[in-house]
Amino acid sequence: MKTKAYSFPECAPEMQRRGKMDTFEQVRDTENLYQLNTYKKLPISIERGEGVWVYDSEGQRYLDLYGGHAVALTGHCHPEIVSAVKSQAEKLIFYSNVVYSSVRARAAKAIIEIAPAGMDKVFFCNSGAEANETAMKIVRRYTGKRKIIAMKNGFHGRTAGALGATGLGNYRAQFYPVLEDFIFADFGSIRSLEQSLNDDVAGVILEPIQSMAGVEMADDDYYIGLRNFCTENGTVLVFDEVQTGFGRTGSWFFGDHFGVSPDIITLAKGIGGGIPVGGVIIKEEISKTIGLGEHGSTFGGGPIASAAVAANIGVIRDENLVHNARETGGYLAKKVLDIPLVKRVRGRGLLVGIELERDAAEVRDFLLGRGIITGTSSLKNVLRLLPPIVVKKPEIDIFVEALGAFRS
Ligand SMILES: Cc1ncc(COP(=O)(O)O)c(C=O)c1O
Repeated sequence: MKTKAYSFPECAPEMQRRGKMDTFEQVRDTENLYQLNTYKKLPISIERGEGVWVYDSEGQRYLDLYGGHAVALTGHCHPEIVSAVKSQAEKLIFYSNVVYSSVRARAAKAIIEIAPAGMDKVFFCNSGAEANETAMKIVRRYTGKRKIIAMKNGFHGRTAGALGATGLGNYRAQFYPVLEDFIFADFGSIRSLEQSLNDDVAGVILEPIQSMAGVEMADDDYYIGLRNFCTENGTVLVFDEVQTGFGRTGSWFFGDHFGVSPDIITLAKGIGGGIPVGGVIIKEEISKTIGLGEHGSTFGGGPIASAAVAANIGVIRDENLVHNARETGGYLAKKVLDIPLVKRVRGRGLLVGIELERDAAEVRDFLLGRGIITGTSSLKNVLRLLPPIVVKKPEIDIFVEALGAFRS
């Protein structure tokens, strides 16, 4: 990977002394004053990133194992993505789907080329919630039915429909009533799916790994059983791969691990290498039910987003990152199990939940103090890692050593 010479981290304190750059306190106070107060933030202001490293306003370096919320899939500011976005911005920043675009054509082709066989149409949007809303609309249109089976403890986003499908604790309860017509099944149980089925069920939506719920996995057999259940009952199977897609778990898409292909896959987070993009990949037979003018999104498939997606797929392929996610994820899981604080490791590839003997927030704060960014989940004792999939063993060793040094 090419590296860039930046003087930022070293010169930050000097720039602050001269009043040319805000200090952390100034940044924090201004955000708190003007931004709607909906996010609980770590006490740092990140100003620059490169690969798996980010730098704060004081010039301090952090190993980013949270990946900017699972978004910096190919690392922060990957030179190929920076270059694709820069050169696209110089040519055309935006035009909508009312015209054709060579860069959108390239991105659509690139996605379908990596998609599971038989999935041959993509719809571009801007976020995970929007991708899931789109998927649910298509599921209902295709089947002519209303109900959708979602999973207890699942998370699908914050808009009305996506929140309706979200079974996870507070998210739904805080804004009740949300969109109705969801039936919640136990994740990992085919029996529970059978009990949830009725004549008005259009589809099943789930995260193949429940990330926010604490990186909850199902048995391998479940995914095969799930596919069979949907096929036998004519229900559309939707995998929300907003976190698992594009190589994070060690395969391009999660079902590839088991030879299972869903009918619809929803995507967001890392697919644009940091540029906001969402996507829905659809089996052709199902896609035919949506006609001209029946769905849209102004910014979906815009030139900059498309340039970023095409470049990102190129990077994942050229740097063999799907393989790296599998191998480095396996290395990480093995190494942390030697630490007495660690009870169990959940997840697959580089979507990792580390079950601890301690409160994960306490450990996250300790690690932050040692220059490592990690995440938590809705399970108090699970530390969540969603690092860029360019992360390598030496960086994992830094994390393992720091985690091993935790003392209450
Ligand atoms: C599995 C899953 N689906 C959907 C979403 C919503 O994505 P967005 O915040 O881009 O709307 C998220 C966000 O964390 C997610 O993890």
